[in-house]
Amino acid sequence: MKHFDGKTGNIYASPGRINLIGEHTDYNGGFVFPGAVEQGIMAEIRPNGQKTCNVYSIDLKDMAHFSIDDPQGPTATWARYIYGIVQEMRALGVDVKPFNAAFAGDVPLGAGMSSSAALESCFAFALNDLFGDNKVSKWDLVLAGQATEHKYIGVNCGIMDQFASVFGKKGKLMRLDCRSREFEYFPWEPKGYKLVLLNSKVKHELKGSPYNDRRNSCENVVKALGQQFPDKKFETLRDADWDELEAVKDKVSAEDYKRAHFVLGEKDRVLAVCDALQAGDYETVGQKMYETHYGLSKEYEVSCEELDFLNNVAKECGVTGSRIMGGGFGGCTINLVKDELYDKFIATAKEKFNAKYGHEPAVIDVVIGDGSRKIC
Ligand code: GLA
Repeated sequence: MKHFDGKTGNIYASPGRINLIGEHTDYNGGFVFPGAVEQGIMAEIRPNGQKTCNVYSIDLKDMAHFSIDDPQGPTATWARYIYGIVQEMRALGVDVKPFNAAFAGDVPLGAGMSSSAALESCFAFALNDLFGDNKVSKWDLVLAGQATEHKYIGVNCGIMDQFASVFGKKGKLMRLDCRSREFEYFPWEPKGYKLVLLNSKVKHELKGSPYNDRRNSCENVVKALGQQFPDKKFETLRDADWDELEAVKDKVSAEDYKRAHFVLGEKDRVLAVCDALQAGDYETVGQKMYETHYGLSKEYEVSCEELDFLNNVAKECGVTGSRIMGGGFGGCTINLVKDELYDKFIATAKEKFNAKYGHEPAVIDVVIGDGSRKIC
């Protein structure tokens, strides 16, 4: 490892993800439809026999040192992901020893492609392999990543991103039921269509963003449902139907109602997309993507001007489906485009976006790749 003492370590990789549909449904006990991408984080790591962990971010050209027993941990956010994973893996019974590590990635930061989950999963997988005889289950690796976000970063995220990063499989999307944690792999081979992301480059950082407020709104509605229907158990919005939501409309704020309305609609849309995919009906898949965009923009209010603009361009070009992807507040749109329309759409989106915002969106062709793994 050239950044430390010339000795090489083991190399691990974990991907970012896309999500076809099912946004903000994970922490509501609903369904999501993600897949891992080829882009990810790669880390080289080796026990160092010293007292501290020394970790170098190649992309940020920044070094962090922390002791495993330090109750505070490092201050740099990127290093806190790794420190958090160390703590969570120890809590799972892995006897983590100080290590040297260096890592780099090609998931664009703040694009809604889960660069942070890729980092967490990469280190969770690596520590399990190096110090835990791989005895921690894949699901516990997922939960270690999620707990890191909650406890060390302050984002009360669901489990979609870490799930996709750990369980991803080349060429397969996954439909996950976030309540039961059952999932199925769906081959992704849309004949005649491509999936492409357009990154607005509007930076999105969920930390300190209204992401947690959205989650609180959903929980407020769940509380009101419990009061209105004392004989029924409501754990999340997954347990509510449209009539029940209407019954509490006057008991919650107009804003919370709007948020919950989106979530119930999104729950239905994911299931409709699954049926449509099984029937090879990509026009319906695309239609549902547009509906999701509308809901995320107008009801959940996590879009931004640039993403609405890209969505409109897609619509004007006759693109089959388009929507904001991930947590929101910036990042990418995901677009389902007919092969013959692809070149024209990309050229038009670049030209129009550049004319309005002074820079082109980045074009990322989606290739569904493998989940967390050891390279060597
Ligand atoms: C972020 C979170 C996920 C999920 C999405 C929205 O990516 O980390 O848990 O809630 O937003 O679907």
